[in-house]
Amino acid sequence: MRLPDFPWDSLAPYKERASAVSADLPGGALVDLSVGTPVDPTPVVVQDALRAAADAPGYPQTWGTSPLREAVARWFERRRGVPGLDPDGVLPTIGSKELVAWLPSLLELGAGDIVGFPRIAYPTYDVGARLAGADPVVVDGLAALGPLTPSTTPKLLWLNSPGNPTGKVLGVEHLAKVVDWARRHGVVVASDECYAELDWRERDPSSAEPPTTPSILDPRVTGGSHEGLLAVYSLSKQSNLAGYRAAFVAGDPVLVKQLLEVRKHAGMIMPAPVQHAMAAALGDDAHVAEQKARYAARRSRLRAAVEGAGLRVDDSEAGLYLWCTRGEDAWATVGWLADRGILVAPGTFYGAAGAQHVRIALTASDDSIEAAAARLA
Ligand SMILES: Cc1ncc(COP(=O)(O)O)c(C=O)c1O
Repeated sequence: MRLPDFPWDSLAPYKERASAVSADLPGGALVDLSVGTPVDPTPVVVQDALRAAADAPGYPQTWGTSPLREAVARWFERRRGVPGLDPDGVLPTIGSKELVAWLPSLLELGAGDIVGFPRIAYPTYDVGARLAGADPVVVDGLAALGPLTPSTTPKLLWLNSPGNPTGKVLGVEHLAKVVDWARRHGVVVASDECYAELDWRERDPSSAEPPTTPSILDPRVTGGSHEGLLAVYSLSKQSNLAGYRAAFVAGDPVLVKQLLEVRKHAGMIMPAPVQHAMAAALGDDAHVAEQKARYAARRSRLRAAVEGAGLRVDDSEAGLYLWCTRGEDAWATVGWLADRGILVAPGTFYGAAGAQHVRIALTASDDSIEAAAARLA
């Protein structure tokens, strides 16, 4: 099994270049917008819950406590328009990256099995296929798969909406078509939805639609059955919990049981205090709204500055990134921004189709975003 080089290592020279010029620029320090790591405090309500559960001498449950699994079900109903989720179909994970990286292995996929993922995508879908010894394949639309035979049909198809890095949202109709297709061909669909609470599209306040990006588990998508479907969610972004490693997978109880069996044997257990903290976070919408408002302000400041500097912003309807191009090679844009003391990620980190784009993260302090905007002016 051959893993790709860790892409961020190749940014080091640009980081040096951007750091070197920063002393003489507004803000005086490197503005690092190359990664999506939250910088605002973990909400007090979540810190308090973690502290309250600090006495944890015994082994936690791999499956998660009942209050936690019920909190996930209630969150799906309240925030995602998914009523009646079976708490038996919920499993906490140690952040979502580990689940993404291990899902093909947990599903016992291997040599000759195809794992599909989007053309421009978070690199861990590909890594997960390789870790299992399965075949990673870009699926650029279902039609592009052509006539299917048993050996060319994916066993697992990843969706990512809102997408990283593009910020593109898949609508209910699109998701429903994928689910229909997947059921006809016996394909498991895993939908990575970790930016669902950070949807920037205008919405009608009187609408009965859920306040977030549509889920693969939405009854308008599934027709009411979660068979063959998994939604992957993380609290890293919505609740500034990247350091807690707080995430879950939910959907088809049969599939979730299969994941649980392996995870029990392998000791892949979310720590008990984190289980308690995650349940508290899922029950509190106020901190999510507060954090979303912070990102909204940063996004509009940065977007105006980026467009003012002549870059075009594509997609970016949701999530924590601006997907931008100057119509040139991505590394040239990385260099152009480094010369202004701003570090960003080239689109090539997410696939060859990102060759002319860069991903600019909104996960920086107000002061850093202000400095970036001033440098671009
Ligand atoms: C699309 C996507 N999936 C999963 C993750 C992993 O998040 P975490 O491991 O913090 O839950 C990220 C993190 O940036 C992401 O962008």
